[in-house]
Amino acid sequence: MKIANVLIVGSGIAALQLAATLKQDLNVMVLTKNSTTKGNSYMAQGGVAAALGVKDHPNLHFLDTLEAGRNHNDSEAVKELTKEAPGIINGLSQAGCQFDFNKKGDLKLGMEGAHSEKRIVHSGGDATGKGLVEFLVSQLGSHITVQEDVFVYELIMSDDNQCRGVKAKHPDGTNEVYYAEHVVLATGGCGQLYHFTSNSESVTGDGLALAYLAGAELVDMEFIQFHPTLLYVDGQTKGLISEAVRGEGARLVTEDGTFIMEGVHPLKDLAPRHVVSQTIYEYLKMGEPIYLDISTIENFTERFPTVSAICRESGVKLETGRLPVAPGSHFLMGGVKTDRLGRTNIAGLYAIGEVACTGVHGANRLASNSLLEGLVYGRRLGNWLNDQSGLKEKSNYDFEVSVLSKPAEKKSLSLPDKHVLQQTMMDRTGIVRQNGALMMQKSWLESFCLADWLETSLDDYSIEEINDVFMLITAWLVTDAALARSESRGGHYRADYPGEDNANWLKKQIVYKRKTKK
Ligand code: SIN
Repeated sequence: MKIANVLIVGSGIAALQLAATLKQDLNVMVLTKNSTTKGNSYMAQGGVAAALGVKDHPNLHFLDTLEAGRNHNDSEAVKELTKEAPGIINGLSQAGCQFDFNKKGDLKLGMEGAHSEKRIVHSGGDATGKGLVEFLVSQLGSHITVQEDVFVYELIMSDDNQCRGVKAKHPDGTNEVYYAEHVVLATGGCGQLYHFTSNSESVTGDGLALAYLAGAELVDMEFIQFHPTLLYVDGQTKGLISEAVRGEGARLVTEDGTFIMEGVHPLKDLAPRHVVSQTIYEYLKMGEPIYLDISTIENFTERFPTVSAICRESGVKLETGRLPVAPGSHFLMGGVKTDRLGRTNIAGLYAIGEVACTGVHGANRLASNSLLEGLVYGRRLGNWLNDQSGLKEKSNYDFEVSVLSKPAEKKSLSLPDKHVLQQTMMDRTGIVRQNGALMMQKSWLESFCLADWLETSLDDYSIEEINDVFMLITAWLVTDAALARSESRGGHYRADYPGEDNANWLKKQIVYKRKTKK
């Protein structure tokens, strides 16, 4: 048994920013299912949005965020996010984080989709996540323990319905209990629910399922962002081609060179992601391949080293000036409902970063607002926790944790094949949705004893089995919410309800909260 003041599950930007903010006299433990260099944050190419340009202002960033989010956003949260952004970047830069500067010695500001100004700060060209993760890891003091390869599979709840810690598994199959006064989910989203995704293999909806099983509220699960440009080779996606490439002038074209975004949206290739993804999807469905024409970009390899490496590894030649692309799942706008500090409806349980839904992203996230969200909410929660009470003695943990006394049981329950789940989610709960396919997917998911899994102790299941259970639960939440929302908005597009229905749906959230026995 281990005890911490603050236990953080996950090791991306939000987790590391929180850990780096927590004061030295707290005992902080970070548990990660693999390592800091394997998650989405480390892979992130796109930068951090902040109104730092001379013509820019946080109000403009605020308006762009609401427009991309189709006004489903919590505008107070957006106001805070966009206002805090310049200070966060300047603070990190002054502390030694290496961002990219221009020849005049100012921060280089890039353009991305649906931004009205150049405001994207990068590190290492297109390796911003790596730069930030490495910097934040270098800032962690000795009061912080990072444990890798620890898979959290249950939140420990006391009889008075407070979160008191977690149960976790090690790769050798042993289980361990970690108690903590404050448990923070920073596990990222659920990109791996889909066959085409930009996400790391580890992003399987763990925090969402953990929170749901414990009785936390989840909202906006239908809003999945599909990034328009993943490299597409032999029917498979191979990794992200950053939107910054279109920000530098690349255009989406058909085989015969027709610009596909002409006449679709005033911002053309830099339209909001859902618009671009849906347009590419329609062409691909008709069997017409789509390319990103990069021929106008000078020094491509120096400007985009990560994209160039992905192309090289996949056998795509940059010299042709054309990169084949397809859209894939990228980001979950919904998640565990929190307030603007990261607190959930369960005492002692918090969520930050992609797993959380503060309302900042609305129905579709604006490009480069995700690393920003992690940095802002990691710091906000850190500052708040720093003002809470210190570590309790072990003997003070006098609460009843009934879940621990349950006898272990291993029922033989069926689970879907992971690849079939990913393919069916792509086909039926994907970029373009409609009632029949969603109903089919929902009943297919429910056929895998979903109701029984919700009541089953996971103590004796393997990490692989539990991963599949978490994917099953999360896929069900996304599908059920997509079925319920009878309109199209942002990342949620229903072919049978193609327009926004402001009269019935504006700012309306679909809330999931499981009835627990306690
Ligand atoms: C990108 O570089 O296109 C991804 C960045 C983001 O999702 O904000």
